[in-house]
Amino acid sequence: MMVYNFDQVISRLGTNSAKWDGAVKTLGEDMMVISVADMDLQAPPQVVNKVTEMARHGIYGYTDPFPPYYEAVQHWLDKAYGWKVPQEWIVFSPRIIQAVSIMIQRFTEPGDRILMHTPAYQPIASSVEMNDRKFVESRLLLRDGRYDFDFDDMERHMQAGVKMLLLISPHNPTGRVWNRMELERIADLCIRYDVLIVSDDIHADFIHEGHEHTIIAKLSEQIAERSIICTSPGKTFNLASLEIANIVIPNKQLRERFQYGLRQAGIHNPTFFAPPALEVAYTECDDWLSELRNYIRDNISFTEAYFAEHMPELKIVKAEGTYLLWVDCRDLSKNESDLIEWIQNKSRVCVSFGTSFGAVGEGFIRLNIGAPRALLKEAFERMASNYPLVHR
Ligand SMILES: Cc1ncc(COP(=O)(O)O)c(C=O)c1O
Repeated sequence: MMVYNFDQVISRLGTNSAKWDGAVKTLGEDMMVISVADMDLQAPPQVVNKVTEMARHGIYGYTDPFPPYYEAVQHWLDKAYGWKVPQEWIVFSPRIIQAVSIMIQRFTEPGDRILMHTPAYQPIASSVEMNDRKFVESRLLLRDGRYDFDFDDMERHMQAGVKMLLLISPHNPTGRVWNRMELERIADLCIRYDVLIVSDDIHADFIHEGHEHTIIAKLSEQIAERSIICTSPGKTFNLASLEIANIVIPNKQLRERFQYGLRQAGIHNPTFFAPPALEVAYTECDDWLSELRNYIRDNISFTEAYFAEHMPELKIVKAEGTYLLWVDCRDLSKNESDLIEWIQNKSRVCVSFGTSFGAVGEGFIRLNIGAPRALLKEAFERMASNYPLVHR
């Protein structure tokens, strides 16, 4: 029996929501928004209660991460991924994108080459060039509706010199969950060509049936020594704006250099609300997460069925993980401007258009299905009602 009501539609307008208020401000009040990767679902009630209790305290002074925070992260890493880590490996950072930028600054030099797979989550990709490093793109190969690494391409780039690999695992936007064999091949290449692995595992708590998340650092001690794993409760429990990420760095030298980089950037403390929210999320919300996963699974089935019936030319890439769906629209149009005209301008639906993940994304869209089903239905109906016009 369902205990949590994920069907409840709660307006986020007027909450300074980057997703909703942002879209309404730039595109108009009638927009339906299924783009930015946070969920239109409340955090677990246990977390809401804790945050409310903390809010009532009323003194929002400087905060530090104390052992209960570290213990909660250790407990989660073990329970969720079977990864036992000592407390000292865990470094708090408000956000993963801040942490990655600091890693680029501390572990590479201007002009160094950093490899990422495309299509790519842009805030991480653009931090490479914003830090004056060279963005090296290795395109994922779409074969029979599934994305794969191009190992030969990666190796060619590494032969030419790559200092760091920014791995998104599981992958946003394609929804691929990299399996053990793939990660072993990646790790072998990184050892052979002396590449530091930064693995952003923020989506790792949404792994769909038949797939399993592997933390690359778990493969061997040798790989752990050259790996940094970024985790966070932000996506899983919808806590993005509380800003708490857990950066796990087994290698002591790398860890100390990263910690120095954090201080150099003026990053010291979590917000007042973040550690207690994380502690409750990681220790008291298993039932909520299990129901949420079922809800996400059913949203995916709903979306697949709806598209097959009403917009059959759009091909949803089978998601192995994440609450994001990557949709190949190229049978309808290869031009993003056509898709924008149909979806955004005519249908009044805000999705993430493919080129925001790099040029290779043209002709694709990304949908965020972490939302009440009624909201998705409304968005899809709007798209479908304008669909034949584009098709003709
Ligand atoms: C792959 C990936 N990394 C990082 C982030 C953002 O994480 P944070 O809010 O901790 O910077 C996102 C959010 O969409 C993401 O998809």
